Amino acid sequence: MIERTDRVGSFGFTLPGTSMTVNRMGYGAMQLAGRDGDKLVWGPPGDVDGAIAVLREAVASGVNHIDTADFYGPHVTNQIIRKALSPYPDDLVIVTKVSARRGEDGSWIPALSREELITAVHDNLRNLGLDALDVVNLRSMFSIHEPAEGSIEAPMTVLAELQQKGLVRHIGLSNVTPAQIAQARRIAPIVCVQNQYNLVYRADDALIADLAHDGIAYVPFFPLGGFTPLQSDTLSEVATRLGATPMQVALAWLLQRSPNILVIPGTSSVEHLRENLQASRLQVPSEVIADLDSIGGGPA
Ligand SMILES: NC(=O)c1ccc[n+]([C@@H]2O[C@H](COP(=O)([O-])OP(=O)(O)OC[C@H]3O[C@@H](n4cnc5c(N)ncnc54)[C@H](OP(=O)(O)O)[C@@H]3O)[C@@H](O)[C@H]2O)c1
Repeated sequence: MIERTDRVGSFGFTLPGTSMTVNRMGYGAMQLAGRDGDKLVWGPPGDVDGAIAVLREAVASGVNHIDTADFYGPHVTNQIIRKALSPYPDDLVIVTKVSARRGEDGSWIPALSREELITAVHDNLRNLGLDALDVVNLRSMFSIHEPAEGSIEAPMTVLAELQQKGLVRHIGLSNVTPAQIAQARRIAPIVCVQNQYNLVYRADDALIADLAHDGIAYVPFFPLGGFTPLQSDTLSEVATRLGATPMQVALAWLLQRSPNILVIPGTSSVEHLRENLQASRLQVPSEVIADLDSIGGGPA
C-alpha cells in the first residue's frame, strides 16, 4: 500500500448522490500512453517505470481522482494504472469513459452500439482489475472534437442497465450539450460532466454555473490546453507576478472559477506532476482573476 500525505490540500467535492468525496486536484492518465509517429495516445510509453512513478507519486500526494479510458493505448493506460496502484486505496475514485475504439491508424472511432458499450465496460473491468467501475462517462461522438446535438438515449439506456447490474456504480457524461445532459438525467442520475474547458476555451461558462446549482461536478478536459499547452503573454506575466508557473496559474484559475470544478491535469513527468499539484495551494487575487479572464474574452 502506498504511504500518503496531503500535499494537494484537503478540500474535497462529494459527487452527488454518492459517498465518493474526491480531492478537487485530480490526475488525468491519458498522457501515460505512448506515441507512434502521428498515432497519439498509442501503445506503451517509452518509460513504463516513469509512468508508474507518476501514478504512485500522485496517489502518495493525496490525489484520489484519476481519469482514464480503456481506449488510451488502447488498454495500455488502464494496465499501467493497475500495475502501479492495485490493490487500490479505499478512497480512490477511478473515472473511465466509453464510446470509442481505436482504428489501426490511431483514429478514434465511435463505438456506441449496445455490444460495443458492454464490451468496453468489461474491457475496463478486466484491465483495471475491478469488479465494478466507480464512474463511467458516456462520451458523445456526434462530433469528436466538440459537443454536437443528437440523441444519446440509446447508449444512456445501456449504461443505466449496466448500472442496475452493478458493473457501473455511477454515470457521467463527456463532450455533451445541455440538451444531452437533460436527456441523460431523465434516464439515470449524472454525477459529473467532462467537456473541454480552460482559460482560453470557455464555451461552457453558463453550463458550469447550471451544473454547480445542481451539485454536479464539472471536470474540464485539456485544463492546460491539451497536446499544445496554453501559451499567453498575460498568463506568463501573471505567473511571474505571483511567483508561480503559467500551468499552476491555469489550474488555480480553474479551481477558483467554480466550486464544482475538479481538475485532472495530465502529465507523463513526475516533475510536472509536482508542479501541478502545488497549484491547489495557490491563491489568485481577484484583481488578477480579471486579467486572466481577459484571455478567454471576458469575465464569466
Ligand atoms: N473526455 C475527453 O474527451 C477527453 C479528451 C482529452 C483528455 N481527457 C482527459 O483529460 C485529461 C487532461 O487532459 P490532457 O492530459 O490531454 O491535457 P492537459 O492536462 O491540458 O495538458 C497535458 C499536456 O501538458 C503538458 N504539461 C503538463 N503539466 C505541465 C507543466 N507543469 N509544465 C509544462 N507542461 C505540462 C503535458 O506534457 P508532459 O507529459 O511533458 O508533462 C501534456 O503535453 C487527460 O489526461 C484525460 O484523462 C478527456
